[in-house]
Amino acid sequence: MTTSTVPWFEHLSYTKSEVVFIPNFWSHAATVRSHLDDAFREVVRQQRFPKMRLFTGSGLRNDLTVQLLKQPLFAGETFPEWIERVIGTPDFCVALNNTSSYSEPLAALLTETITQPASRHLGTLLGGYEAYLFAGRYDATPFGIHDDVDHSLLLHLGPAPQDVLIWPRAEYEKIAGPSGTAMIDFDIAAKAPWAQHLTFRENDLLMIPQGDFHVFMRPNYSVTLGLIPHPTTLAGFLSRVMTEFTRDLTSANEDASYVTWPALPGQIERLLDADGVLQLPVRDLVRQSSLRLESNGYLIPSPPMLGVAGAEEHTFQRRAPYPLLWESSCDQVTIYARGRTLKFRELPHMHRVLERISGGTPFSIADLIRVTGDTWGADLATHLVTALWAHRAIEVVHGV
Ligand SMILES: [Fe+2]
Repeated sequence: MTTSTVPWFEHLSYTKSEVVFIPNFWSHAATVRSHLDDAFREVVRQQRFPKMRLFTGSGLRNDLTVQLLKQPLFAGETFPEWIERVIGTPDFCVALNNTSSYSEPLAALLTETITQPASRHLGTLLGGYEAYLFAGRYDATPFGIHDDVDHSLLLHLGPAPQDVLIWPRAEYEKIAGPSGTAMIDFDIAAKAPWAQHLTFRENDLLMIPQGDFHVFMRPNYSVTLGLIPHPTTLAGFLSRVMTEFTRDLTSANEDASYVTWPALPGQIERLLDADGVLQLPVRDLVRQSSLRLESNGYLIPSPPMLGVAGAEEHTFQRRAPYPLLWESSCDQVTIYARGRTLKFRELPHMHRVLERISGGTPFSIADLIRVTGDTWGADLATHLVTALWAHRAIEVVHGV
């Protein structure tokens, strides 16, 4: 185990495999806990089934998750209080994936403190970072001693400490036997003598490499935020990029169960050609995918879009810390906004308008029109601003 002196993100490389523990890594634990209360309010508000698991003494309880999502979090209520009120016990384990997409302050903090610094140092993580949380009070992780296919970058948010046991993979294989690694294992006490023991406290960082076995014990209530730095191979990345670009093609869902073999290549070409995909060289697709990631702080998934109207009445600002990125080709401007792509016709002064927005200082629609030398109409500027607002690339500035 490393109590590290080198920058922590050095250890995110998938070629390295050692446990990294950095006590007092940051100071945001209490703030993030309060963001998580709002994140769960957002989960309930969305009325879409989240990637959420709730465990009690009797195991995974999807029925209780359904009950929970029907109940609002009251004003001033914390999310563990909400869970306890609905399910009737403080002894639970809750896991929520895609956590950053439910809380803008959390996403911004993770971007500023983790994903942007790591990306500046290591390069773009092409698989993106996915945030998740584990919280509750329980004897041991509900699925026992286990390993994960990805690295686990964990930030403990407290308030109580938790105990962690970690077995390097090779060591665990020796003590668990040839088939032991594939089985759910709660025999913690018997294997504890061979484990690394850690007390994981509020604001500490812990990185458990993929494949190492571990288990968490929370005798008192606490929350841990995790980030999965999704690995990818060049082939995996390319395959994902192509999937993204073919998913939204206009006739992608045309039935092709039975085809006339000689006609098939032509059908596929027509499908790709309809949206110009055939004209896009692979390097363009790769760059676009990378810019999309950067525009959302390298976090996946993007936050849900907002239903917005009345942009003329507000002053806006680019949402920190996300860059607004764009590029032109063939009379078209492609804007990368919070992990999504927006396409506009290339109009005179478009770049100056985008530079004004991207600059980070507050602006109104009238300001943007002024930038164009009053050549843009209000409808055009409103259309652009509304799109960026809905994508959460810009936000309303209050009190200006
Ligand atoms: Fe794990």
